[in-house]
Amino acid sequence: MGRVIVVASGKGGVGKTTIAANLAVALSLYKRDVAVLDADIVMANLEIILGIKSPPVALIDVLKGEVDIKKAIYRGPAGVKVIPAGITLDGFNEENMAFLRACMRDLVEELDILVVDAPAGRDAAMVMDENQEVLIITTPHVSSISDALKMKMLAESMGASVIGVIVNMVEGKKREVSIPDIEKAMGASVISIIPKDEKVEEALAKEVPFVLKYPNSKASRAVINLAAMLIGEEPMYKESFFEKILRIFKR
Ligand SMILES: Nc1ncnc2c1ncn2[C@@H]1O[C@H](COP(=O)(O)OP(=O)(O)OP(=O)(O)O)[C@@H](O)[C@H]1O
Ligand SMILES: [Mg+2]
Repeated sequence: MGRVIVVASGKGGVGKTTIAANLAVALSLYKRDVAVLDADIVMANLEIILGIKSPPVALIDVLKGEVDIKKAIYRGPAGVKVIPAGITLDGFNEENMAFLRACMRDLVEELDILVVDAPAGRDAAMVMDENQEVLIITTPHVSSISDALKMKMLAESMGASVIGVIVNMVEGKKREVSIPDIEKAMGASVISIIPKDEKVEEALAKEVPFVLKYPNSKASRAVINLAAMLIGEEPMYKESFFEKILRIFKR
């Protein structure tokens, strides 16, 4: 029985899909059997980051009861398994939500880790369940943090455990909320700080995950170290100057 790690946020556009995809690849680099599920059936885009072109079968076909979820698993970079969402305007309903949760429980039986890219906002509750670990993504800005707090409460009300906050797109600017203040506001630890990094967009344009395309970039180092931490492995990268400053600043 593997772990389910849900990547969620309150506000949209904070980097859930980017982090879910690259974290799943990074976990695969540590030789774990990992699948990443795009549960955002309204705004699917995980497959683009992972370079999977026009998948003939996706999660929406599974939810319609047309195919078994195993038929919607594709082989992505570094051997990560990818379950694309497919696009529908209908979103989730009570019935397919229960079915999706059952599919996820089946899937994880045969994996080490299932990473789930949750839809933004309230729809995330649709994929949350007991025995799941949730990573809450926020940027260091007030509006994103207050929505992240709501998402943390929502996850907890669904019985999932929030294992930490990831602060993404950090630039170290004055107007950003500090890490200790984010922890105070969220009532949870910040377990990863991911810098804003132009290599993220460059890799996206090439449809290759940045942890593979630019493994030494700042964003990659942070995501690869996060992967290591989640599975209790030695971090691959030593702390950079930027990371050190942030850590000292954190105290
Ligand atoms: N650390 C980063 N540095 C630079 N750009 C980033 C970083 N993280 C994410 N981005 C960019 O920000 C944009 C939004 O990211 P992404 O699509 O992953 O967010 P999301 O939370 O999944 O959005 P949605 O709520 O729409 O699903 C993308 O263009 C992505 O490439
Ligand atoms: Mg997304």
